[in-house]
Amino acid sequence: MTVTTPGGDSSQPWAGLASGYERARAREDSLDRIVEWPAQRELLGEVTGRSVLDLGCGNGGKLAALIRDGAASGVGVDISGNFIVDPPPGLELIRADISGLESVPGLAGRRFDRILFLQSFGYAEDPVRTLQSARAMLAEDGFILLTRTQPIRYAVERAEQNGTSLGEEYFATDSFSYRHGSWNDQISLTKRPYTMADLLNVFSAAGLWIETTVEPQLSEEARQRFPHKQAWMNKYLGILMFKLRPLPGASAAGR
Ligand SMILES: C[S@@+](CC[C@H](N)C(=O)[O-])C[C@H]1O[C@@H](n2cnc3c(N)ncnc32)[C@H](O)[C@@H]1O
Repeated sequence: MTVTTPGGDSSQPWAGLASGYERARAREDSLDRIVEWPAQRELLGEVTGRSVLDLGCGNGGKLAALIRDGAASGVGVDISGNFIVDPPPGLELIRADISGLESVPGLAGRRFDRILFLQSFGYAEDPVRTLQSARAMLAEDGFILLTRTQPIRYAVERAEQNGTSLGEEYFATDSFSYRHGSWNDQISLTKRPYTMADLLNVFSAAGLWIETTVEPQLSEEARQRFPHKQAWMNKYLGILMFKLRPLPGASAAGR
């Protein structure tokens, strides 16, 4: 099955991908468990008493962990609706599209100390508009934590598949079809290529500045335990993580 959302990566396929994604994420050697979530958690820092909005939250498990760590409240938004069955008190999970945050009733008039886009931002139809809407929901001194796959990762993979060069694929502009074998090899996502310049320019256009950027790697212990994952990282680099804050004086569109 291949479904394309105009302007953005495909989102409807997530109805079929969500359970496979969560199963893969739960494996003891998943990159989310051994690299991404530990690094995301470290960048979030102390969450006691904080309100957290997780956009493209998956099953909401990361928000539940933040509530256990002391966050006062959490709201998760995901298009798949494949949520944990027994969310802890203080956690709300809403089935909705991150491309239309202004019209999600459960978010109207609310402000959050931390807003997360963890491997979900690429699915927004209009990335600048979605980030502007998120920016408008930030409480005083709040920040956005956004993680996205290194664009070079897809360029390396497509260069191998197509017998082309890294540069040709990195600077290509046509959408491409992508299947993740360990999630569900029957369902394709349609992805829009992006360069580092594209990504950084979206942040500026949305009135945000980058306080910190992290390119997380395996710990020494994880390298020893999971050499196949280190080999994957050596080839594809992994993900980028950005802590973003509103540019003072930039106008916040949306809400
Ligand atoms: C790669 S998963 C990441 C999930 C979670 N943030 C994590 O870190 O484990 C991408 C998530 O984005 C969600 N998603 C895709 N398109 C979306 C959209 N248009 N609106 C809301 N959620 C979307 C998917 O259902 C999926 O849960």
